[in-house]
Amino acid sequence: MQACDVEVWPGELPPGRIDLVQKVAGVDGLLCLLTDKIDAEVLDAAGPQLKVVSNHAVGVDNIVLSDATERRIPVGNTPGILTDATADFAFALVMAAARRVTEAERYVRAGKWQTWGPSVLLGADFVGATLGLVGFGRIGRAVARRAVGFGMRVLYHDPGKTPEHGALPAASLDELLAESDFVSIHTPLTEQTRHLVDARFLAKMKPTAILVNTARGGVLNQVALYDALVAKRIFAAALDVTDPEPLPMDSPLLTLENCLIAPHIASASARTRDEMSRLAAENLLAGLRGERLPHCVNPQVYSAD
Ligand code: DGY
Repeated sequence: MQACDVEVWPGELPPGRIDLVQKVAGVDGLLCLLTDKIDAEVLDAAGPQLKVVSNHAVGVDNIVLSDATERRIPVGNTPGILTDATADFAFALVMAAARRVTEAERYVRAGKWQTWGPSVLLGADFVGATLGLVGFGRIGRAVARRAVGFGMRVLYHDPGKTPEHGALPAASLDELLAESDFVSIHTPLTEQTRHLVDARFLAKMKPTAILVNTARGGVLNQVALYDALVAKRIFAAALDVTDPEPLPMDSPLLTLENCLIAPHIASASARTRDEMSRLAAENLLAGLRGERLPHCVNPQVYSAD
């Protein structure tokens, strides 16, 4: 059954701004990626017939929601289905940074492996260590389940969640930073969380601690992180997200052995990406039919007034 005509952007790289604004003219629905900035200019360029914007991601910081809501355009996202894949990868980063996996691999390839040595590439332990989760939504909770399986103590900080949520202890941010051996970031990027991880945040972490970010690059001030890593104020960091993306090759972070960087692939398992595509298409088609989106991030558009 054919539901609509489709035009797909053919490039591997996202459309530039001019192409995006030109291509959206006259569409009834827009399925976009997190690399597409959707704001008033794009929505107005599309035209008043635009019925839906469907984001192929759970995070919607690439979309100015107030601009869509003002125009009564529902915006869809893909929650839930990428929780496990993202939590798996966050935990993979925790382990890789703690046990220096990428550094060890570089060491071998560089021909530095001369012998087995009692103190070669020593890393951090998991059993009995404390993992602090900043943000305790679906993904934070899934990371917590993995950490408990590794014998870790888990703390979380999330102003939006009630204390003792999920039977784990909530902590103030200061307590969490002071006590955690690993700090993993799981907050959406908003005006409140932009550069939440700054020099003050990093200074409150233990010098042996490891920072992991699989949320959004903008939550972290990368200059502050570089300074903290160089000064050994923290042990290591592992980032799946940066600001900007891709990270420019001249970023000072790329010169550091104790900073692991992945290209925003936490949700990149084959099944997860299929499911994200399916959910994004369902949101789009519901919007085109004039039905409520299965996953709508601005449900105010459905209120009567
Ligand atoms: C999302 O869906 O927001 C993720 O960042 C994609 O990997």
